[in-house]
Amino acid sequence: MRPEVVVVGQMARDLVLRVEEAPAAGRSSAVRSRDEVLGGKGANQAVGVAQLGTPVALLAVVGDDRAGHDLLAHAAADGIDVSHCVVREHARSALIVDVVDDRGQWRYLEDIPEDVLTTEHDVLAAGDLVRHASSVILQLQQPAPTVMAAARLAREGGARVVLDGVPPDRELLSLADILRADANEAEILTGQPVGNVAEGVKAGVMLLAHGLDLAVLDVAGHGNVFVSRAGYEFLPHGDAHVVDTTGAGDALVATLTCAFTRGQDLRTAAHAAVAAAASTTEHAGGRPRLTPGILESRKQT
Ligand SMILES: Nc1ncnc2c1ncn2[C@@H]1O[C@H](COP(=O)(O)OP(=O)(O)O)[C@@H](O)[C@H]1O
Ligand SMILES: [Mg+2]
Repeated sequence: MRPEVVVVGQMARDLVLRVEEAPAAGRSSAVRSRDEVLGGKGANQAVGVAQLGTPVALLAVVGDDRAGHDLLAHAAADGIDVSHCVVREHARSALIVDVVDDRGQWRYLEDIPEDVLTTEHDVLAAGDLVRHASSVILQLQQPAPTVMAAARLAREGGARVVLDGVPPDRELLSLADILRADANEAEILTGQPVGNVAEGVKAGVMLLAHGLDLAVLDVAGHGNVFVSRAGYEFLPHGDAHVVDTTGAGDALVATLTCAFTRGQDLRTAAHAAVAAAASTTEHAGGRPRLTPGILESRKQT
């Protein structure tokens, strides 16, 4: 099946450790639960899209090691097309350790070797895949030439371009349709704090001026604001029992993209996206646990 959504982003071994309290230097903590799963933000987004039932391909790089081959096998078992993923010779696969305490505070230890970042060459080699997608998600922890090349190919093919994070280059905003940023990323992007809805709307309007159709900004601790040319909608957090916010933004991006790819309107898509994010906060680690029903769950009144 031809992938409708292509994700360009990171793939990593993800080790999720739950502790009562993270240890200070010179102390230790017992680990209460340990999960080792397919992770990395790009892979988590692709897993989310696959869970929602939309054909998806991931463009990511693993090392030529046992972990790399395991990651590809896991992604394929998740229903992700990995035929364009790259196994980089002599490289070590990325590892992310997520230590989450009982108050939901996370600490990440990241070993992401430079040679497992996706290169411009990797993107150009997958040119047909990117050009033929309906939507392309660019997870912005990749080198600038990589994301610029992917955005240009996606544009050429008429795909919807969805950015997650801080664009390395303003020009990327003019090649994209949608940008999602957490509050910290939004502040880096606009130079303005995003601590409340009004500040979120202001930041969103600034971003739309670069040519985007939609900016989705996290108003930390409060909710998400969806700013489009037609206006804005703020969706406050509900009563999720938050264990770990890791990956919630990625689930939001995956769901929003699937909803639009299926032709849903902004309001329906936005509600589904925040429901997916909330559900991802309720367990440790960034791997989403979505079901296709979430796309239908909040048809608007
Ligand atoms: N109390 C909460 N209830 C529901 N969702 C929440 C809550 N706190 C945070 N979130 C969600 O978590 C997301 C975190 O996004 P982000 O920081 O981008 O995570 P990541 O980059 O790890 O995916 C927020 O946008 C929001 O949707
Ligand atoms: Mg994020």
